[in-house]
Amino acid sequence: MALGMKKGLTSYGDAEFSLFLRKAFIKAMGFSDDALARPIIGITDTASDFNPCHGNVPALITAVKRGVMLEGGLPMAFPTISIHESFAHPTSMFLRNLMALDTEEMLRAQPIDAAVLIGGCDKTIPAQLMAAASVDLPAVVLPVGPMLVGHHRGEVLGACTDCRRLWGRFRAGEMDAAEIEAVNSRLAPTFGTCMVMGTASTIACMTEALGMALPGSATIPATHADRLRAAEEAGRAAVRLAQNGPRPSEVMTEAAFRNAFTVLQAIGGSTNALIHATAIAGRLGLPVDLEAFDRIGREVPVLIDLKPSGQHYMEHFHWAGGVPALLRELAPFLELETQTVTGAPLRAALDAAEIVPGQAVIRPRANPISVGGGLAVLRGNLAPRGALLKRSAATPSLLSHEGRAVVFTSLADMEARLDDPALDVTPDDVLVLQNAGPVGAPGMPEAGYIPIPRKLARAGVKDMLRLSDARMSGTAFGTIVLHITPEAAIGGPLGLVRTGDRIRLDAEARRIDLLVDDAELRSRQAAWTSPTPAPARGYAWLYHHHVLQADEGCDFDFCREEGKKR
Ligand code: FES
Repeated sequence: MALGMKKGLTSYGDAEFSLFLRKAFIKAMGFSDDALARPIIGITDTASDFNPCHGNVPALITAVKRGVMLEGGLPMAFPTISIHESFAHPTSMFLRNLMALDTEEMLRAQPIDAAVLIGGCDKTIPAQLMAAASVDLPAVVLPVGPMLVGHHRGEVLGACTDCRRLWGRFRAGEMDAAEIEAVNSRLAPTFGTCMVMGTASTIACMTEALGMALPGSATIPATHADRLRAAEEAGRAAVRLAQNGPRPSEVMTEAAFRNAFTVLQAIGGSTNALIHATAIAGRLGLPVDLEAFDRIGREVPVLIDLKPSGQHYMEHFHWAGGVPALLRELAPFLELETQTVTGAPLRAALDAAEIVPGQAVIRPRANPISVGGGLAVLRGNLAPRGALLKRSAATPSLLSHEGRAVVFTSLADMEARLDDPALDVTPDDVLVLQNAGPVGAPGMPEAGYIPIPRKLARAGVKDMLRLSDARMSGTAFGTIVLHITPEAAIGGPLGLVRTGDRIRLDAEARRIDLLVDDAELRSRQAAWTSPTPAPARGYAWLYHHHVLQADEGCDFDFCREEGKKR
């Protein structure tokens, strides 16, 4: 197979002329023939003025290029879409598949022998791994790394668990406008991804366990010199991958995904990660068995004491030994001979893990944060194809709960009525949000963290059972049932719930049920009409007609190995 500049020539009907022309143009950049004869390492430039999480990408690219050249390759950075959580309308999830398509096609189109995929903010690494899986081009993921923590009045702050916690205090009248404004400047004090165990941190840790990132690279703070050294090493690794592999399909095997899911449970990670991992695995034809995932959750303890499930932040996890030290603690649950982008099996990362005496972030198996893992898969007549509950961030007394439904039929309805003093709601009720799934909103917003109605928040209510077909930020907490599948907007049972119905959660039995008899549900189903009109054109049209449900990773049907189920 042709490599380097000879790879994937532009079609002019004369291959030699295509190469002649390509070299003529690239020489305008001053490259020598020697440089152009080297293995070419593509580097994704995902920096953008809208993406502070990726603010260190220019420096990382410089360091990756150094590593590539030290190893004898030719580094070539190229831009792809950059997605930041707070600058993506309607949601970053709506755009994840677009980034996957963009990255995939750029990896295919350009003469790249291996790639360094620099990503970090929530949807970016999932999109890049989806692309790498589809192209099956050797690639190493380089996370941008987490932010350092912030401080306010002696308190340590982290984006964005503390964004939500302090906003909740402001809503409850416990904090005034001047103070919440001061906090606003201190929650995200450096470049890098959210420094709690949110989606970005979760995905970075899982990517390391999956074998697609270098050992230790998930947790190094974005602003530290070690992050640049990791970037240099990623460049070197990519040159070796170009020459000897392994390819993504040889790294991301079923066993590697089981390892990644074990880590997801042990870190009390983000619910979003299950959707992303399902999408990545789907690109490789590997179905994710939700019951098997739940079994991992019952067996694997939560060992990482990080917000939102625990106390600490990513930089503390790093100095406690990071993912390699966690993997060593999890060794009995892992398959250690899986391949990694270092060329060595996962076992090598465990063997080299730093032992940090007295650290309090990575708990031993004998003294876990909680005995069952963080995430539970629910079924029931409300969620025939599954729903997810983050047990480690829930209120234990609400894990078995029956209450009256208070229904919001859309995000707009919720926004209009939630804080109405006349809203008929009590702390024992179950808040239900409909039509906020992949198709419904669209883009499955992180709206599952339904705020506590203001009048209850002011009365001191901190948590209620909340249900939706939406997602929630990995930085959020509460007794929140998410990803209810199929979603309301395509006729799922969630769309049939009415205010006043009774709903029962039994987390131990993994059940979420609507206590309405079947005849009544059939009559409601017969009267149901879709509340979501199809967009007329463009990417929104493509998305509406082809996005899959949460249990299939919300990928596009035409990007998976098998066709769509919905
Ligand atoms: Fe980018 Fe949290 S907003 S990782």
